[in-house]
Amino acid sequence: MGRWNEFGGVLLSIALVGVAVKGYPAEDMVVKLPGQPPVGFKQYAGYVDVDVNAGRSLFYYFVEADKDPDNKPLTLWLNGGPGCSSVGGGAFTELGPFYPRGDGRSLRRNSMSWNRASNLLFVESPVGVGWSYSNTSSDLDRGDASTAKDMYIFMMKWNEKFPELKTRELFLTGESYAGHYIPQLTDVLLDHNAHSSGFKFNIKGVAIGNPLLRLDRDVPATYEFFWSHGMISDEIGLTLMNECDFDDYILDSPHNVSKSCFKAIAEANGIVGGYVNNYDVILDYCYPSIVEQELRMRKMATKISIGVDVCMSLERLFYLNLHEVQMALHANRTKLPYPWSMCSERLRYNDMDASINMLPVLKKIIQHGIPVWIFSGDQDAIVPLLGSRTLVRELAHDLKFKITVPYGAWFHKHQVGGWVTEYGNLLTFATVRGAAHMVPFAQPSRALHLFSSFVNGRRLPNTTHPPV
Ligand SMILES: *[C@@H]1O[C@H](CO)[C@@H](O)[C@H](O)[C@H]1NC(C)=O
Ligand SMILES: *[C@@H]1O[C@H](CO)[C@@H](O)[C@H](O)[C@H]1NC(C)=O
Ligand SMILES: *[C@@H]1O[C@H](CO)[C@@H](O)[C@H](O)[C@H]1NC(C)=O
Ligand SMILES: *[C@@H]1O[C@H](CO)[C@@H](O)[C@H](O)[C@H]1NC(C)=O
Repeated sequence: MGRWNEFGGVLLSIALVGVAVKGYPAEDMVVKLPGQPPVGFKQYAGYVDVDVNAGRSLFYYFVEADKDPDNKPLTLWLNGGPGCSSVGGGAFTELGPFYPRGDGRSLRRNSMSWNRASNLLFVESPVGVGWSYSNTSSDLDRGDASTAKDMYIFMMKWNEKFPELKTRELFLTGESYAGHYIPQLTDVLLDHNAHSSGFKFNIKGVAIGNPLLRLDRDVPATYEFFWSHGMISDEIGLTLMNECDFDDYILDSPHNVSKSCFKAIAEANGIVGGYVNNYDVILDYCYPSIVEQELRMRKMATKISIGVDVCMSLERLFYLNLHEVQMALHANRTKLPYPWSMCSERLRYNDMDASINMLPVLKKIIQHGIPVWIFSGDQDAIVPLLGSRTLVRELAHDLKFKITVPYGAWFHKHQVGGWVTEYGNLLTFATVRGAAHMVPFAQPSRALHLFSSFVNGRRLPNTTHPPV
């Protein structure tokens, strides 16, 4: 009996190996991207129709974890904008497995890719962004609610394509305007879970980097950042602080502020000038016209500033517009009448939604026992840490959370990776030292450390090992 069982067991496992071909869609498998170095993990890309009648379809790019993907969680990453591409941003210049090479025609490995810790899903959302599209032009009028709803339909239908990942531990992440997208999507998924007697999303955590959470706080933080970094004069800095009441600030120019405040804002932006990258004011600026010419002439466009290629976004633009790249990714299947761009010029997003306060939504998520991490590249002028840190503290106060990790440095490779604090064992605020708006772009190693800690349910280390 014992022997038979053993024998049967062997047979059974052989049979299981035989049928263990995953139920992943063969037609979406990316065999190899042009100029891509060989890798051991699989990639998939393609479309998920979210409304067949309107002809609305979202484009995704999925990369398996580098090792042991069956035992790694699933992480959704969304870039912000609103209107910017998660494939161009997250996947190909921040946390994905490949970066463009200086020739704009091939790829190099990102050894600090987040797919070392998780399977990664990037979606171009909403329609009108990147290769996501709609056959109905009025669909380009989007806002927070319609974006979250489409992403919910996307997640439901994507699960049908990848049934093995349906109940996998799910982490929801993003940056910038994804400070709206991610909490609002999480809220919709939690609603689904509350009403579904069957399948439920296995949400394990939410992490958002330099997120827009409250416009009336995040905008003044930008001007404080300019001021504290010597990018504007004392006169303008003081005028901004004295003349501007940001409580009723709206995204649409002239921002619903007083005339004197609007004048100061315009002067500040004038002094900051066009030759600095507001998304990372520490890095050198890449001149687009020079790079475009270099790429056409098959020269290397690479310009290294503090260890990163500041021209990567232009190399990416060139690469993703190559016909063979689009073919390999199964992208642009309807032959869109315009080129791929990082941020959409077609989308008509409702600017008033930027004024929605995200703290109540984050509160609700945390009250479901879901850990929330807000991280902040400390050199960012777009959504600076001065706003985010205060907002997180106020949220903790509102939740009546006690400090569970006192504010202090966290360490990576014997150096300070940033500073961190935690509230109520669930709410973490962490900075990433030397990173800016796109945290994994400028500090890939520290960013991966932060992400691995997050998905593995670990705190960031508050000591160096070994101590020096
Ligand atoms: C959109 O229109 C194209 C033809 O222009 C068609 O092939 C496609 O099926 C339509 N719907 C979607 C979701 O793409
Ligand atoms: C504009 O600001 C005024 C107060 O200065 C406020 O009453 C009004 O609601 C604001 N408008 C919008 C659209 O927020
Ligand atoms: C889609 O393909 C067409 C035809 O090849 C091309 O002209 C266009 O730039 C592409 N658009 C995007 C968004 O990739
Ligand atoms: C590190 O954090 C733990 C809590 O996770 C705390 O008990 C300990 O005192 C902290 N150590 C330092 C050096 O701050």
